[in-house]
Parts: sequence; C-alpha cells; structure tokens
Amino acid sequence: MSYEHPSLAPLAARLAAVPTLPADALDAEEIAVMGRKQGELTLLLKSLATLSIEEKRAMGGALNQLKQAFDAAFAARRAELAATAAAVEARQVDLTMPARQSWTGTRHPVTLVVDEIVEIFRGLGFTVALGPEVETDALNFTMLNFPPDHPAMDMHDTLYLGGEGGGGQVGERLLLRTHTSPVQIRVMQDGPPPYRVVIPGMVYRNDAFDPSHAPAFSQIEGLAVDEGITFVDLKATLTHFARRFLGPDTRVRFRPSFFPFTEPSAEMDVGCRLCDGAGCPACKGTGWMEILGCGMVHEQVLRNVGLDPERWTGFAFGMGPQRIAMQRYGLPDIRLLYGGDMRFLTQVGGGTP
Ligand code: PHE
Repeated sequence: MSYEHPSLAPLAARLAAVPTLPADALDAEEIAVMGRKQGELTLLLKSLATLSIEEKRAMGGALNQLKQAFDAAFAARRAELAATAAAVEARQVDLTMPARQSWTGTRHPVTLVVDEIVEIFRGLGFTVALGPEVETDALNFTMLNFPPDHPAMDMHDTLYLGGEGGGGQVGERLLLRTHTSPVQIRVMQDGPPPYRVVIPGMVYRNDAFDPSHAPAFSQIEGLAVDEGITFVDLKATLTHFARRFLGPDTRVRFRPSFFPFTEPSAEMDVGCRLCDGAGCPACKGTGWMEILGCGMVHEQVLRNVGLDPERWTGFAFGMGPQRIAMQRYGLPDIRLLYGGDMRFLTQVGGGTP
C-alpha cells in the first residue's frame, strides 16, 4: 500500500499492533497517534503544508490512507473488546458464592477390620486367596462333605442361578455362595500342599435383615495344610490372632461344635470386652462372645481333593468381619454397617461427612 513509504514504517508497525492491544492501552495509543495536538500522524499531516507541491503529492495520499486505516483499526478493536466483556457478563459468574465442599474419603469399618485381620495372618506366613461369589453347589456343599439334604444346609439357604429349576445337574448348579469355605477346595485343587491362606469375601444367605443378621455379609476363611499340623497349631494360631487383634490380655475358649468339613470342630469365644466377663446384654449374660468357627480339615475333604490324610493334616476357620466390627466399635445393630450413612461411617473411619 502507498502508506508503506520508508519514512512511515514506524507508524505502519504500530497500526499492525492495534488488533492485539489490551483495553487499557487502546485509548492511550489512539491519542498518541491521532491526538489533535501531539498525535504523531496529526503532526505529519500538519507538516504537509510546509512541503513543496511534489512532496505533498508523494506524502499526502499515503498519510490520508494511513489515517483511515488507523480509524478503522481502533474502531474494530474497541468493538471486539466490548463483545468479550459482554460475554463474561452474560456467564453471570457469582464470585461471592461459597466454594463447593471438598471431601476426604475413608475406608468402611468392615474394610478396616478385614485389612487388619489379613495383616495379622500375613505376619504368620499366610497369603491371600480369593474365589467367586457365584459358586457351584459341588464346591459350596458336596466337596465340603455336606451329605445331600443334611440339616447343616438349613443354615445355608441361598439364591440359585441359571436355567429351569435352579439350572443344571446337582453338583453343577450355580448359587450365591453361602460361605467362603468353597475357596478352600479351589486352593487345594490348584496345586500341592503346603497351604497357608486367608480368604476374605462376600457370602449370601436367606437371613432376615435384623439387628444381628444380614442377607449379604463378609467372611474371612483360613486354611493351613501341611505335614504334622495338629489341633495345637489351630489353638495357638487363633489365640495369637485374638490377642493381636483384641489385646494381649484377651481370654479365649474353644467349645465343641459341628461343621461337615472339619473334625473335630469348635467355636472360639473371646472374653466379652464390654463387661470384662461379668455378663451383660451384649454377651447375653455369658461373659463370652463367639467370634469364629474352626476345626481340623475333615479327612473326607482331603480325599475329595486327592490328598492322603495319612500324610497331610490341617486346620480351617471362618469368621464374620461385620460381627467383629460390631464388637470392636460397640455397634448395637449390624444394619449400621450397610446403607452408607456418612454421619456414622466417618465416626469410625475418619474423613468428612
Ligand atoms: N464356613 C463356616 C460357616 O460359614 C465357618 C467355618 C469355616 C467353620 C472353616 C470351620 C472351618 O459357618
């Protein structure tokens, strides 16, 4: 363009910069260039009068074009800045509004208890094994030496899955597992002894949802099989566990019991922590609280997975982390552990409600 005369180069450069000028620099720049008295372009236009005819011809047109270009550039930039400001306004950001609360997460009380129990057994050389919640009735019952229609199964009513009438042949039918014990079978089928595993997981039973029962709850199973394991190992291991978990002065006792997959079988009680053994509503006046079932792995179970009971022996146990959490945190109702009420959960685990 004609205003690109060498002596006009500095003004041409300033013209090029106008579209990027910030709002607060725009007015000052307009005055500096076009100001009526001291504007650089204005002064050049005024100086035209002192030039010869030829010089006027050379510069006059160029300066006028430059003036028009500046006018247009300032107007365009001003319009652009006004449009941006209007858009910000339209978003209606309320800078006085309180910030949204930030949350700190926390682990569920049952998770805290499970993690702590697993950690104690890890210290004894146990590893963690897991199994599916949908199980065959062969693993949930038959392989664990439940005779068909044995009354022990009354406590293990659950949901059957699959096709007609529960689906499949007996042995193959799928169900929601009623305990974590079938994972004992899976572990033993997976490779040769020795085994030392703990097995946390959810189990399902046709139980009422009342202060001490839930239709879905968790268990921690334990299994140790090796050469030369006796009932002494069972008692020593579980007593050690109770004292690590509940305190070194914890009293324990073993009562005879029955499970199809252990022989002999026992329940382990711990001295009631609320009344220190004197008897209170929590322990139903007995001074003791049951915390787990256990026993020596039944010979038939060992034979079912192809192990020779003359060579291999072992013990197994199963406990309910919800019950244990209720004792640890003094909870009157198991249902508090379900439903995710943050006011309750944060009292135990920390975090923000
Ligand atoms: N599976 C048993 C139950 O759910 C508990 C148990 C596990 C007992 C292992 C003995 C050995 O009642």
